[in-house]
Amino acid sequence: MFYVRRGSVPPQRHTQHRAPDGSLYAEELFGVEGFVGRSSLLYHVVPPTRTHKVEFLREVPLIAVGEDQAHRHHLTKTGGIPARGDAISGRVPLFFNADVVFGVARPAEAMPPDTFYRNGEGDEVIFVHQGEGLFDSIFGPLRYGPGDYIVIPIGTTWRFDPDEGSAQRLLWLETPGEIEPPKRYRNDYGQLLEHAPYYQRDIRPPDEAKPRTDDGEFVIQVKTRGRVTAYHYRRHPFDVVGWDGYLWPFIFNIRDFQPITGRVHQPPPVHQTFQGRNFVLCSFVPRKFDYHPLAIPAPYNHSNINSDEVIYYVAGNFMSRRGVEISSFTVHPAGIPHGPHPGTVEASIGKEGTEELAVMVDTFHPLHFTREALELDDPAYPYSWLPGEDAAKEASELAERGPEAFPD
Ligand SMILES: [Fe+2]
Repeated sequence: MFYVRRGSVPPQRHTQHRAPDGSLYAEELFGVEGFVGRSSLLYHVVPPTRTHKVEFLREVPLIAVGEDQAHRHHLTKTGGIPARGDAISGRVPLFFNADVVFGVARPAEAMPPDTFYRNGEGDEVIFVHQGEGLFDSIFGPLRYGPGDYIVIPIGTTWRFDPDEGSAQRLLWLETPGEIEPPKRYRNDYGQLLEHAPYYQRDIRPPDEAKPRTDDGEFVIQVKTRGRVTAYHYRRHPFDVVGWDGYLWPFIFNIRDFQPITGRVHQPPPVHQTFQGRNFVLCSFVPRKFDYHPLAIPAPYNHSNINSDEVIYYVAGNFMSRRGVEISSFTVHPAGIPHGPHPGTVEASIGKEGTEELAVMVDTFHPLHFTREALELDDPAYPYSWLPGEDAAKEASELAERGPEAFPD
């Protein structure tokens, strides 16, 4: 990342920084990896340690189901899930392992007033599929909208306030590791290189520190070790008058990802947007197709032998996947090949480009499924590559209309 400074900070770190009334601001080092990772220095009106009540709130269990069933491809259809709860209580976890947990949410309301959230053991990414609103954090407010990846460092205190009447559909992900731009796109100084599909300019940190000094009863829900603990405070937790450093939440919009294309089909790593611990996060965005005169734009069949490949379909017409709707996930796990559906290879030839939008999470260790994931599962999906009677009809229709999208 890069250095950002907002609001009022003293000329030198760890020196006196006083409010207009002469009182000292309370400095907080907010950093990862025990003082050698990225960090920021925050200046609070009151120390962030003054809790008057700590209480157990709830468990957030993750239970793997279906592990006694056949190992196969899955199609997980989340389009029909009802809107419920808020950005946290409405979360539906679908897939997980020791490196990453992810799922969807369709929050129906803002988080309760004076309630905040903090993931105490992992970075989070919220991909905004639909909806607009305010992502507010201790670092300052950020407006969000469709296509935004909101990247939230571990330990950040935040709130999520959807706009009134704005229907929300979110993909969320949490990981005990760090979410970062891919290492291969950065130089020793952290600067994104010329061959990177995006630049620092595309990364949006909070614009301003906006200190709040309200008194009241404020609750930060801290998630750690599979449970949520409520920390109560008398002062608003967003009381930071200034901060600077390298660790802060930001927004990157998927439409600012500059696709890397080629003369022949480019492999999924060109779509990588972020790296995590033992997983990658990729963006499939509108782009021109391959320009070799004999190119086949549709992906080749592939055996991702030791990774699980999950794609979330955001927009476009995903005709390389029969029957895949927007808001569905395809899960192509390790050990078995997958590829374009019947008819789509031929239909892709000669096509100029795609308008597809999709987000992919590839994990290097096996994913487990939650009960909710299996409830949304389409059991017919593993057979969707079979050229049956319907498939043949569909394929000829496809060939006529031409596919718009061929996600890997
Ligand atoms: Fe694939």
